[in-house]
Amino acid sequence: METWTIIILGATGDLARRRLIPTLYEIMLHKKDLSFAFVGAAKEVVAIESLINNCLPNGKKEIIQQLITSSIYVPIDFTDADSFKTLAKEIDRIEKQHNLSGNRLVYFSVASQWYCDVTRLLTEYSIINKHDPSSKVQHRLVYEKPFGWDAQSARDINACITSFVHEHQIYRIDHYLSKALVTSLLLTRFSNVFFEPIWNAEFIDQVQITLTETITLAGRGDFYDQYGALKDVVQNHILQLLAFIAMDKPPLCDPQTISSYRSSILQHIKITDGLLGQYDGYRSVPGVAPDSTRETYALLRAEITKPRWKDVPFFIKTGKALDTKSTEIHIVFKPQQMHFAHGAKTFESNRLIIRISPDSAILLRLNAQKGREPEILPISMEYCYRCTFGQEQPHSYETLFYEIMHGDKSAVVSLDEIVYAWDCIHEIENLNLPLLSYTPGSSGPDEEKVFTEKYAIKWDQGAVPAKPGKD
Ligand code: BG6
Repeated sequence: METWTIIILGATGDLARRRLIPTLYEIMLHKKDLSFAFVGAAKEVVAIESLINNCLPNGKKEIIQQLITSSIYVPIDFTDADSFKTLAKEIDRIEKQHNLSGNRLVYFSVASQWYCDVTRLLTEYSIINKHDPSSKVQHRLVYEKPFGWDAQSARDINACITSFVHEHQIYRIDHYLSKALVTSLLLTRFSNVFFEPIWNAEFIDQVQITLTETITLAGRGDFYDQYGALKDVVQNHILQLLAFIAMDKPPLCDPQTISSYRSSILQHIKITDGLLGQYDGYRSVPGVAPDSTRETYALLRAEITKPRWKDVPFFIKTGKALDTKSTEIHIVFKPQQMHFAHGAKTFESNRLIIRISPDSAILLRLNAQKGREPEILPISMEYCYRCTFGQEQPHSYETLFYEIMHGDKSAVVSLDEIVYAWDCIHEIENLNLPLLSYTPGSSGPDEEKVFTEKYAIKWDQGAVPAKPGKD
């Protein structure tokens, strides 16, 4: 049986509580040929029982108990070398106690300001050792997005961490790349003969990528106010989705080739216009500066300077405290025209909708004739994962952990991708877009209407009825 020690730095933070610890519970529930111990570390002093119990209000009691029995919590000060000495001892102790092999996965669920110094301390105290890919015992480091806060900081952090460990041990991840429908995007595009011939500027009118959320920032004010929507989700999740949509067919479907093809798109993105917004009440969220000018909403128009995408606008919309929670990609095709005895008729644009969350679905909107009269109506062909296969798709973080433990780098982004994505953010900052306000629960600032008309954006989000489940 494979055994691992999973060390989460920042174990009391929002990500660990909402996603990572519940994922460990899911792994314990599903994976029978894997045994692991969990070591939580953060600066607060908490008891492991209450940390785990609070994250799993609806979990099965016996699985929660199993998880607690294989877990410890170590309070840690990232600036204090002694803390790492204690952490090293505690890890050795739990590995002996549970008879583990010494495979270690350290998950950095902390701000990237810490990545360099903490990696150094982890190696100094042999919590992580530099080793060859063929080593019997594997030590892997997982760095959450955003990696850095601009292109230069990403390069510096990367240079620092690669001075302590080998590249094969480094996982700069984006959990969107572990979402089932995202991983199958390329297969959908390239295994169906009719997509590739029309996947270009001759047939595509516009592309829309939306990642909208209803949640506010309560509980994450400190982190979010340093980053905002652009650095929190545009720099990573959204630009990655865009790259998957726009990239050419890779000659080989392996993570490294796919990453280099995504990279070549990220390098050619040009942001031409946009709107930024902040929801009313954001400035009174604990941790947010009372005069904060951080955006919680962004609507952007992008172009890709490659012949395949000549003059095709890509619209990106994201925000917190909006009216819907969904992540959708819409490929809107150019409207077609036919000539009849009584005149010409232009039909509704065909549209391919790829919904990533809340449930996975692919929908094709076509035109069909109703009755004998040439009445043409838009109809939908829908594929929904759960309806077709009768089961939930695995949760993205669960997939991510399995991939990392198997040495699979599908969810890893290269330094090039990260740097090009930061360049895009820098370009947006240089546009000096004004910060507009919007009402929580609305679809965004009122100015969105004018922007929509100006660029003839054909929104149709929410066209697939949601059957929410896991994403
Ligand atoms: C995270 C962002 O990376 O992604 C969050 O930091 C955001 O602000 C989340 O809520 C969205 O992910 P998902 O999987 O819920 O769509």
